[in-house]
Amino acid sequence: MTGFNLLFPPVVRFGEGSLSLLEKENIPGAAGVIITGGKSAKKSGALDRAAAYLRKTGKKIHIYDGVEPEVSVETVDKAARFCRSVKAGFIIGLGGGSALDCAKAAAGCAADKYSVVDYLENKVKLKNSPVYFIAIPTTAGTGSECTKNSVLTWTDKKIKISLRGDMLVPRLVLADPQLTYSMPPDITAWTGMDALTHAVESYFSSGANEVTKAMSVSAIKLIQANIVKAYKNGGNKEARRAMLLGSLTAGFAFANAGLGAVHGLGHPVGAICKMPHGLVNAIMLPYVLKYNKKACLKGMKALEKEAGNDIIETVSGLNKKMNIPEKISDVCSKAKELSGLILSTTAYSGSMQYNPVKMDAEKTEKLLKRVL
Ligand SMILES: [Fe+2]
Repeated sequence: MTGFNLLFPPVVRFGEGSLSLLEKENIPGAAGVIITGGKSAKKSGALDRAAAYLRKTGKKIHIYDGVEPEVSVETVDKAARFCRSVKAGFIIGLGGGSALDCAKAAAGCAADKYSVVDYLENKVKLKNSPVYFIAIPTTAGTGSECTKNSVLTWTDKKIKISLRGDMLVPRLVLADPQLTYSMPPDITAWTGMDALTHAVESYFSSGANEVTKAMSVSAIKLIQANIVKAYKNGGNKEARRAMLLGSLTAGFAFANAGLGAVHGLGHPVGAICKMPHGLVNAIMLPYVLKYNKKACLKGMKALEKEAGNDIIETVSGLNKKMNIPEKISDVCSKAKELSGLILSTTAYSGSMQYNPVKMDAEKTEKLLKRVL
């Protein structure tokens, strides 16, 4: 019998209003930092509310905002320095994937004095007890709240790379659907398709097991039934709830099963073409599924039986309904010229190893040509 390991955050609180539980949680430290992105958490009031709940408990709260999309190693270093300077006993990531990934990496780095690059270059190892990290997603898609990875842009090398460690899994996750209500339609579509990609890739991943497969199917059903509803009407509370639940479930699946060629190629494409992660994945998913089809026929039939429809047709149909273009070059006009550079950095992506078709340089180039 083949065994497997599972790793989950120890505490996840899901439900409308769960942000307010910050007031009741037993969080260590007299001071903490909330790390967040641009304006959306401020505009929606989530940032002020989170800080207010914590201040009610007597804690000193600092804000580190302005984390850019596809967060860089430089920003992580600045955030970690800031957390050290205020002696943060806990760090909260509040926002989309970049804010969460920045906060997660900062929690790992703030426990010591090194740059995140030193960890990426394996000069030093992450401490076993990083600063207590809380993840509060405001988008339904990235799944960063479920994983031990922080996906970062290594600016000098123009690559996306993951800082990894079991100790980076959030200690507490507050998944509050209300925080996703204010997401605009394009972000709803892109992050939602990222979540669907997590669910689909983890289902077909060579690292999948019985538990992750059940989670992947559950996430696929939730997302395919609700993503267009949430895209068309952001105020649809039922659809928003289902999307956050689907994203969370897909996150647990891929955190334990691994992903595949969409993420393996999508990270370098996103970094070099400067495109949002979810949009890249949405465009690439149908191509990769077609490419993998022969190797996954049995799995595709099983999934069709469980989810009720053909996954390739479903993904293409959802993309069309949400105005997602068909090719990467429809968004990034220089994509074809950049293909050599993209190929030269795919080796940094760990996701490729889980693709059901084993990918070598030749196969990767062939697949990339189709999608660009
Ligand atoms: Fe993703």
